[in-house]
Amino acid sequence: MASPFSPNPEIKYTKIFINNEWHDSVSGKTFPTFNPATGEKICDIAEGDKADIDLAVAAAKQAFKKGSTWRTMDASKRGRLISKLAELMERDQQYLASLESLDNGKPVRVANFADLPGAMLCFRYYAGWADKIHGKTIPVDGPYMTYTRHEPIGICGQIIPWNFPLLMASWKLAPALACGNVVVLKPAEQTPLSVLYLCQLAVEAGFPPGVINVVPGYGPTAGAAISNHPDIDKVAFTGSTEVGQIIAQAVGASNLKKISLELGGKSPNIIFDDVDVDEALQWAHLGVFFNNGQCCTAGSRVFVQDAIYDEFVAKAVAKAKTVRVGNPFDDIDQGPQIDEEQMKKILELIDSGKAEGADMKCGGSRHGDRGYFIQPTVFTDVKDDMRFAKEEIFGPVMQIFKFSTIDEVIERANNTVYGLAAAVFTKDIKRAIHVSNHIRAGTVWINCYHMTACQAPFGGYKMSGFGRELGEYGLELYSEVKTVTIALDSLEAK
Ligand code: NAI
Ligand code: MG
Repeated sequence: MASPFSPNPEIKYTKIFINNEWHDSVSGKTFPTFNPATGEKICDIAEGDKADIDLAVAAAKQAFKKGSTWRTMDASKRGRLISKLAELMERDQQYLASLESLDNGKPVRVANFADLPGAMLCFRYYAGWADKIHGKTIPVDGPYMTYTRHEPIGICGQIIPWNFPLLMASWKLAPALACGNVVVLKPAEQTPLSVLYLCQLAVEAGFPPGVINVVPGYGPTAGAAISNHPDIDKVAFTGSTEVGQIIAQAVGASNLKKISLELGGKSPNIIFDDVDVDEALQWAHLGVFFNNGQCCTAGSRVFVQDAIYDEFVAKAVAKAKTVRVGNPFDDIDQGPQIDEEQMKKILELIDSGKAEGADMKCGGSRHGDRGYFIQPTVFTDVKDDMRFAKEEIFGPVMQIFKFSTIDEVIERANNTVYGLAAAVFTKDIKRAIHVSNHIRAGTVWINCYHMTACQAPFGGYKMSGFGRELGEYGLELYSEVKTVTIALDSLEAK
């Protein structure tokens, strides 16, 4: 059967999207986006910077004005627009999956089975919330009636990464729109294509001009213009902890806009000796190697109890050796890393692990000499204080640690600046819950991995960020609570 996916999807939208129209950048500059499987340029994209962010903010401001179409629209209609967007994505799913895979390098099969359905579900989930976001009446003392309203925050700046371009756009846009906000979004410079196509679908769905604005460009220019902008009311960021800190500083120094951050991780995956080793290994493998290893929640620190350590290691290495690396449009398991910079960062961390004495069982090098592929790599005898045991690798590198006792592993698992996710594998439910209660992380999986759902909150403890995206909790990031108090008696009556 012929593949429904195209390795050469037609590129239709490459400009800046403001007010439902396509614009060149004010400076006239462009930047290239590359195919990471070949290193070749796909096309040039309009390069937005501060001047373009200013225009996008002005358009958003207009769309958010009292009396505007968006502000006066029934909440139920807002919900219908958001579901319409998901419907159009479904119509164009194979095209969007092809575009995503071309720009990002993930296997097209994964884009089609994970990213696209995940993004559509997120839009549909929040479409349902649009007319269910309500306040409370509160029994205050005295002759007063008090109620709360959950109102949109206003102009939301959203800065997203390249590992799940469309999915991250949906996590940001869907709750913001459901709550009635307007948006200025900057995709990662590596992966602008799918989000730009989404903009045209938003026009087709019927979103009013200025509600969604997308400005492609680089972080220190376009991204910084968002975090520093005095008229932006909220910034939501997903990416590195380093940039999260820069954004938090900019927010503090500009207008104290509301902020939510979803940052890096070094998540522990704890495997006790009572498990079915084959099953735990399947999940642990997915935990590290899914999406070419480029997941903020990657279970990169695999802690294995001593009695099953040797068996687990042997099976983990055998499994890693079966991973088929290659072109994302072929029948493969692992595509390239996103760019040369990430490839070099990962190879450097692998070298540091070797130099510090960890035992590399397989992989460890670049795969081929074209594109940015890395061999699936497994390290054993990793020690907690090695540099590469502490830093986020963000690549196809499994690190296996040996442990003996439950208290020991809890302490070691928590011995990190991060706190995004964790997993525990055991048949003993009491032990599983005990461990999950004591791990300082925003998500804990028991006997599974990477089971993130748009209905459930997601976010980090410690330097993995703050705020919870997704689920009902996610609405809090995109709404202000207003308390309204009405006097029920006149002053004389008191
Ligand atoms: P990054 O944090 O630099 O990029 C993420 C987004 O932030 C992009 O849209 C970028 O243009 C923007 N950005 C960069 N500098 C900015 C600034 N000064 N102000 C505002 N926005 C800015 O991440 P990068 O360089 O792509 O990857 C570095 C490391 O970050 C990776 O190796 C990985 O460890 C981690 N990372 C984590 C992600 C996550 O999902 N939490 C996603 C991507 C990267
Ligand atoms: Mg960066």
